[in-house]
Amino acid sequence: MDSLWTRGYSRLGILLEQRECEEIRALYAQPELFRSRIDMARYRFGRGEYQYFYYPLPAQIDELRRELYSQLVSTAREWTAALSRRQEYPEDLSCFLEQCAAAGQVRPTPLLLHYQAGDFNCLHQDLYGEIFFPFQVIVCLSKPEVEFQGGELLLVERRPRAQSVGHSIRLEQGEAIAITTRYRPVRGTRGYHRTNFRHGVSPVLSGERYTLGIIFHDAN
Ligand SMILES: [Fe+2]
Repeated sequence: MDSLWTRGYSRLGILLEQRECEEIRALYAQPELFRSRIDMARYRFGRGEYQYFYYPLPAQIDELRRELYSQLVSTAREWTAALSRRQEYPEDLSCFLEQCAAAGQVRPTPLLLHYQAGDFNCLHQDLYGEIFFPFQVIVCLSKPEVEFQGGELLLVERRPRAQSVGHSIRLEQGEAIAITTRYRPVRGTRGYHRTNFRHGVSPVLSGERYTLGIIFHDAN
């Protein structure tokens, strides 16, 4: 997870096979699985749509969320220590979700996003209350160049007293990436400071792009 420290994101490799990607994106057409559907244009978040799952999450997504949390939790603790934050991140996701619930954050945040030609997602952060996990994971469910063109993941790091740095990231089908939800600790001459991050998606030029977003903190 070194590149989380140095760049604010880490490619996790191909986590889902094509068939699994197709199964998950087929869930998009089952409204009973989702607690809400957001039309991004309506809120001026961009253009396109996403839906947040209900609990219980589909088994495969629940499993993935738990496993990814375990992989990321030690880096989350290191970041907390580097930035002298008070937040504790327990060993497993269930305990972390209990902390969220105690702070009134009880609604599930994993989501499916659907972009068509002309759709995009403005730069933002996915924070839903006081408690947050410092990383989130995005899995691309469509095949770039074959099923869609454009639609790259964007990450922008705003550095203090300096101009921002942009990363444009093309994901393969089934490929996952962990990104920082909020900031990155950067070592300076007097200890660590933080640089702020936002993420988004560049306009899809043609075709359809589905992604799975795995956010670990729940929403209030
Ligand atoms: Fe997001």
